[in-house]
This record gives sequence, structure tokens and C-alpha cells, in this order.
Amino acid sequence: MTTVGGTSTTDAGAGETRPPKVGFWLLMVGVVIMLAGLLFGYDQGVISGALEGIQETFSVGTTLTEVITSWVTLGALFGALLAGILADRVGRRKTIVIAAVLFILGAALESLAPTTGVLVVGRFVVGFGVGVASVAAPLYAAEQAPARLRGRFVSTYQLAITIGIFVAYAVDQALVNANSWRAMLGVSAVPAVLLLIVMVPMPDTPRWLMKQGRREEATAALTKIRPDVDVEAQIVDIEESNAADADQASWSEIFSTRLRRPLTVGVGLAIFQQITGINAIIYYADKIFAAAGFATPADQATATTWAIGAVNVLATLIAVVYVDRFGRRPLLLTGLVGMTVSLFTVGVCFLFIDDVAGSGEQATGGGPTSAGLITLVALVVFIASFAFSLGPVVWTVINEIFPSRVRGRAVAVATAINWGTAFLVSQTFLSLVDKIGNTGTFWLFAGFSVIAYVWIWKKVPETKGRSLEEIQEMWADERRDLAASQAVAVAAEESGTDQPR
Ligand code: BGC
Repeated sequence: MTTVGGTSTTDAGAGETRPPKVGFWLLMVGVVIMLAGLLFGYDQGVISGALEGIQETFSVGTTLTEVITSWVTLGALFGALLAGILADRVGRRKTIVIAAVLFILGAALESLAPTTGVLVVGRFVVGFGVGVASVAAPLYAAEQAPARLRGRFVSTYQLAITIGIFVAYAVDQALVNANSWRAMLGVSAVPAVLLLIVMVPMPDTPRWLMKQGRREEATAALTKIRPDVDVEAQIVDIEESNAADADQASWSEIFSTRLRRPLTVGVGLAIFQQITGINAIIYYADKIFAAAGFATPADQATATTWAIGAVNVLATLIAVVYVDRFGRRPLLLTGLVGMTVSLFTVGVCFLFIDDVAGSGEQATGGGPTSAGLITLVALVVFIASFAFSLGPVVWTVINEIFPSRVRGRAVAVATAINWGTAFLVSQTFLSLVDKIGNTGTFWLFAGFSVIAYVWIWKKVPETKGRSLEEIQEMWADERRDLAASQAVAVAAEESGTDQPR
């Protein structure tokens, strides 16, 4: 996610005792994160309904279809890596403005593309914007939100992503009969322009302004966004925490032995979130449903895809409400059971669907077979299971397991790896289906889900209800236990070799 990029190393608003008031300008910070999430989701989801028209216009084959689909994730990978540096150099606000401009430029290139080359460039530019926004927007919100509401701002972002995917599917359906893939892709310029307009009166974050030594502007910004707090006291807070952070963590520190455990957990979760197939389904939903017999009448495949989008939003809402009550591990593990069972079921269904297609029944029968209908139900279960577990929880955990000094960079690394894996999956899905069939591909995702279950069971600790400092103590305790047990093992081995045989 999220993708939720690097959060601030400390909370603006630390030490607040009164419940925060959400005034107009703080609400606007929420609007910024909503619009950024919407754009992220829209640009991911829209391709599903646009592919058929693109294929007709340019008569593209499998590999080029994959490139057109997946280059958004490739762009996002680079965008996420660059965003951390940009946000520090030019500020959080300008970085979001840059992302909005990229969104508009990319949407224009996509919708006016005279050739597939231009279309692919457009996809990459949009992806770059998605990547930049996926780090800068949560960072902007995290640095402005009151400490007590920070979690809610972060999960709002994931919710906005799913709403964006849903809106994309709805737009796809509305435009499917006209087969206007150009309009489907171009529509994303609308929220991008809105984002640009909203950013005009918004200030940069007090934390970044203070880092630049612009104290007056920082004070004005804080007074505007948080009129309910003791502004001068908070500016001093920020000053102190900036001073404590002055010695910036190096990139190599992220890969040190001390951080090996949290890094393994963060990167592992980032990979498993993608390798279990979510974006194969989000991006290629129409194709999967068409293969399952939902191709006639023409708009049926898009309607089922649209249902998937709605379930994604609703199940994410469940996670937003329950993540702090049930804990991370139960949600992750329960979700993975649902994902494994449904992926396995889809694989079984395609054994029959392939048979039907092979015997020519589907072509004459029209509409889905019962195997096709079970595929629909199973995919809905898959999406719901992902949306209350790996979808939001992975981003929550990634944002809380790193010590504050390295959080920004470590989260950027995990985010980039998440995009890299999303690229791999979306770039190879159709070829995989060609090579090992739908059944083989879905069973492969099911296999990865089983591995994810075992790995999470063994490696991911529960972080619910622990403060960020307690999480760091937990890692330190683990390191001490490990060192102690290694010492015992060495001692036992030495005394064993001393024993006469
Ligand atoms: C993932 C995205 C995915 C989305 C689906 C996010 O958590 O990072 O890759 O498309 O969930 O809702």
C-alpha cells in the first residue's frame, strides 16, 4: 500500500491530552489523502474494463497486454523510491502537487494515445504518480494528523484505494457498451485536477517547514490546521524531535543485523500480499470472468467485476473497524484460510470450465455454467478475505514495526518491494495462464497462500495494543533470547565434545 509509505518519525501533536477537534483544514488533510487513495485505486482498477477495447483498437498480443497492464506498477516502484527523496528536498506539499500533475499528464497520454508505445508511456507516467503519492500522501497526513487519529488517517487511505478500484469498475461498466477505453482512462484526470486545486491553499507540514528552519511558516501552518492546540508548545516539540532525528539513519543501517527481524517481517509481508494473486484478479477480473463463461451478453463480465469492487470496499471497512480489536495475526491468518480455500476452488472450477470450453459447449450455451457461478462466488470470497486481512493489515504492520529513526526509509524499501512483486505478478499472469492454465495458476497462488500462512504463523508477532516503543523492546527481547539460546547451544556442543566416547 498502501500503499502507505513512510510515516513521520514522530507524531505532530505528541503530548496532547485533550481529544483532538477536527476542524475544516484538518478535514481537508483527510480530503487530500482520500483523493490520493482514490487516484491510486482508480488507476489500478480501470485497466480491467479497458483492456478489451485496447486490444481491439491496436490488436495487441499477450505480452503487450501484460505490459500495458503492469507498467503502472513498474512506474509506481520507481515513483515510491524517488518520493522519499523528493518529499525531503522540495517538501511534502510540492511532492503531492508533482504527483497530481503526473496523474493528469499520464491520463492525457493514455486517453489520447495514437500508438501502443504512447499508451505504455502514459501507463508508466500514471504509475510514477501513484508511487510518488503512495509515499507522500500518507506522510503528509501522518505529519498533520493528531497522534490519536493517525491510525484512522492511515486506514482511510486503504479504504480510499478500494473505493477508487470500485469507482473504476463502475465507470468501466457505464462505458462498456460504448467500448470507450479512452474515456475510461481519461476520467482519472478529474480527481487529479481536484487534488491539484485542493493543494493550492494547503500549507506544507509544520515538521518539514521546521526542518527547513522556516519557523514562522511552520507556526502559521500549525495554527491553520490545528487551531485547537497550544501551537507554541507543539512547535517546541517538533523542534526537539527534529534535533533528536538530526543524525539521519543511513541506508546501510536498514540492512544491519539489529533490524534483520523487522525488515524480514516487513518485506515478507509486502511480498506475500502480492504473490498470493490479488492484483492478478484486480487487473484481469474481466478476463477471468470472461474465461469463466460470463462473456455474454457483452456487459456481464464487467458487472461481475463491479461486484468484486464493492465487496472489496465493504470488507476493508470491517478491517478498519476491527484491526485494533481482533489484532493483526488473527485477521491475517483467518484471511489467508479464506484466500487459500477460494483460490483452490477457482482452480477446481477451471478444470470443468476448460473441459466445457474444450468440448465447445460454452460457445453454444452462452452465459456462465455452474462452475462459472462457483468461480464468481469463490472470487468474491477471495477478495473479501484479502480485504479484511492482507490488504490493510500488511500496511498497518509495515508502518509500526520499524524504529522511528529508520521508519521512512525502511517503509520505502518495503513499499518498493511490494510494487516490484505486483509488477512481477501482473506482468506474468496471462503468460502463466497460457503455459500452465487457469487451474495451475490459481493453484500456484493457493500454494503461496499456504506458505504465507505458515510463515506468518511462525514469524509475525502480534503488535496489537503495543506502543511503537514497546514493539522495539519486543525485538530487543527476542535478540537477547536468541543470543542466550545460541550461547547455551555452543556451551552444550563444547561440553559434548569434551565428553569421553
Ligand atoms: C494493495 C494493492 C491492491 C489493493 C486492493 C492494497 O493493499 O497494496 O496492491 O491493489 O490493496 O484493494
